[in-house]
Amino acid sequence: MKAIVFGGAGFLGSHVADELTKQGYDVTIFDLRGSPYLQQGQTMIKGDILNQNQVRMAIQGNDYVYHFAAIADIKEARDKPVEAANFNIMGTMYILDACREFSVKRIMYSSSIYVYSDHGSFYRSSKQACELFVENYHKEYGLEFTVMRYGSLYGLRANEFNFIKNCIKQALIEGTITRQGDGNEIRDYINVVDAARSSVDALSDNYKNCYLMISGQQTMKVREVLEMISEILQNKVKIQYLPGNMYGHYQITPYSFRPKVAIKMQPREYHDMGQGILDCIYDMYATLATSDKNKLINLADD
Ligand SMILES: NC(=O)c1ccc[n+]([C@@H]2O[C@H](COP(=O)([O-])OP(=O)(O)OC[C@H]3O[C@@H](n4cnc5c(N)ncnc54)[C@H](O)[C@@H]3O)[C@@H](O)[C@H]2O)c1
Repeated sequence: MKAIVFGGAGFLGSHVADELTKQGYDVTIFDLRGSPYLQQGQTMIKGDILNQNQVRMAIQGNDYVYHFAAIADIKEARDKPVEAANFNIMGTMYILDACREFSVKRIMYSSSIYVYSDHGSFYRSSKQACELFVENYHKEYGLEFTVMRYGSLYGLRANEFNFIKNCIKQALIEGTITRQGDGNEIRDYINVVDAARSSVDALSDNYKNCYLMISGQQTMKVREVLEMISEILQNKVKIQYLPGNMYGHYQITPYSFRPKVAIKMQPREYHDMGQGILDCIYDMYATLATSDKNKLINLADD
């Protein structure tokens, strides 16, 4: 079976591509940039989802299409609404239309739990719009779909706007973590590797034309996560809470009343959050030790 992963050089897409390869799929990655994580046997296409012809040529011959290419940063989408609509909505349209043209078996669309929410600004608007287009391609043309709404992801290969990655980086360089708000916000964290495995499990017929919520089993307050990072770093990290709230994010629940409900999909086996954070700390420490060694805080025993 052949699968193409749009946005497969990114954080979530690269892990899904790995998992597809592991499970025996013939994988192509389509992304603006070459993937630093390309595995043996995977094919890389450098291209732009806004180039309709490139998208058509790439999709032809594939059974499954995973779509992760987007402006995924809420703040960037808030600051650039036209670009957010262009990349996130028009890019998705070209992918959907090529899926219809070449009769792919299923489109696997990456959405967000923010579709339930009044938060998330234009990022949320773009995800809501795309879900409706996905749904109507099914109604009008019979294109099968699975919509995967992800919760808060963390883990290796995280992008520059990932919350946990940035906290770890700040902790290792400055010995401090600053957070806007009181830290009582609640999140269902999921390790990106577990989310990727669920995303491939979602190819099962049980999830055809379904909405899935892929979030973690570890519901935590942001303050608990920060304390966990500090404790792993031998309590040498100060946590500072600044007045105000993180722009565009929710406090306790992403839900505002919206009529469409999803199946909550949680991996049966999953990474323990502390272990997962420790992996991220080792990874960030190794990166900083090669690029910014002098900036690292002293973690040696007193
Ligand atoms: N990371 C999360 O916590 C999270 C949570 C919910 C939903 N999602 C969704 O999952 C998807 C992937 O998120 P991510 O965190 O991996 O983001 P990411 O930024 O790490 O990856 C996105 C990838 O898409 C590529 N891309 C962007 N524009 C493109 C274009 N025009 N043509 C081709 N490739 C393009 C980028 O180069 C990048 O490699 C997004 O749709 C995002 O909204 C992510």
